[in-house]
Amino acid sequence: MLVTFGGVGVILWVGGRDVLAGNLSAGELSAFIFYCAIAAGATAAISEVLSDLQRAAGATERLFELLDTRPTIEAPARPAADSARMRGALEFRDIGFAYPARLETNALERFSLALVPGERVALVGPSGAGKSTVLALLLRFYDPQAGSVHIDGTDLRELDPQVLRRQIAVVPQDPVIFAASVLENVRYGRPGASREDVERACDAAYATEFVTRLPQGLETQLGERGVTLSGGQRQRLSIARALLADRPVLLLDEATSSLDAASERMVQRALETLERGRTTLVIAHRFATVQHADRIVVLERGVIVAQGTHAELLRQGGLYARLAALQFLGAEDSALLEHAA
Ligand SMILES: Nc1ncnc2c1ncn2[C@@H]1O[C@H](COP(=O)(O)OP(=O)(O)OP(=O)(O)O)[C@@H](O)[C@H]1O
Ligand SMILES: [Mg+2]
Repeated sequence: MLVTFGGVGVILWVGGRDVLAGNLSAGELSAFIFYCAIAAGATAAISEVLSDLQRAAGATERLFELLDTRPTIEAPARPAADSARMRGALEFRDIGFAYPARLETNALERFSLALVPGERVALVGPSGAGKSTVLALLLRFYDPQAGSVHIDGTDLRELDPQVLRRQIAVVPQDPVIFAASVLENVRYGRPGASREDVERACDAAYATEFVTRLPQGLETQLGERGVTLSGGQRQRLSIARALLADRPVLLLDEATSSLDAASERMVQRALETLERGRTTLVIAHRFATVQHADRIVVLERGVIVAQGTHAELLRQGGLYARLAALQFLGAEDSALLEHAA
């Protein structure tokens, strides 16, 4: 700035003196200053473009790094025959697994579990027991160090991950809602679904009730991460998505945050529609869920410590009874528990 304005000052000083002395006309001096301004502006623009280019080059390098990243989970060279739709039999065989970031402690140990098609199994256990890890292994986000996971008798490692994940619908603890319309958010479950299909899915997920009350119905734009929706509403949209996707296997990580009684009942009913006829593996935090499960599996520090129905497990006492007393017991169960004690 100093150099620029200093330069202008010097030109005016020297030029002004020449004009006074009659060597230069006032018009010539103004024209010269005008040209200088244009030339200086152009030079400044070039240097700006250069620095933009440099920044773009830096960003591109990072982009290419990302594009060149090889996933540790690779599709096999010759994937097992991919029947379009599997039946949804799941089996964990003697899994030993530690997260790559923490190899010294096993997140799951000697974990074996089999689900027949259409079975509903609830996973319960204290925080950090390895419940979410079970879902992550089934989705093949990681490969176990020991043992194997099978779907319809096929080892996951012999399947194309895309084919595998096309068999599974996930309703996560905190559903991802995009900053887009309700319609587009639900359609994410099956891109290309018609508007009628989306409406039907919303109906079945008990979402129509609140969607019609939004200012523009299905066209309403939702905020980033669904900030304009309540927790129960986000979950019902996520359930509608899973219904639209219509997969044989359903993974459900129930929200820990408590819903009020009314939306809890809505979500529960929506889930019952969704679970019908699907193999369901659910991380349960709610009483209604464990009650409906065909089987409950109790996990503690990566090990299965008990299995059975709600009543059986209560009768056995132990970790399940303690968890149940803390988390989801009603009066009648407390009586059962005292009886057991
Ligand atoms: N990405 C990761 N890297 C390293 N360790 C992990 C990772 N994710 C989870 N763990 C560890 O693995 C163990 C099991 O975690 P997991 O997320 O399966 O627990 P959880 O049963 O789902 O718990 P919560 O009920 O709190 O969700 C925990 O001890 C946790 O600290
Ligand atoms: Mg978890």
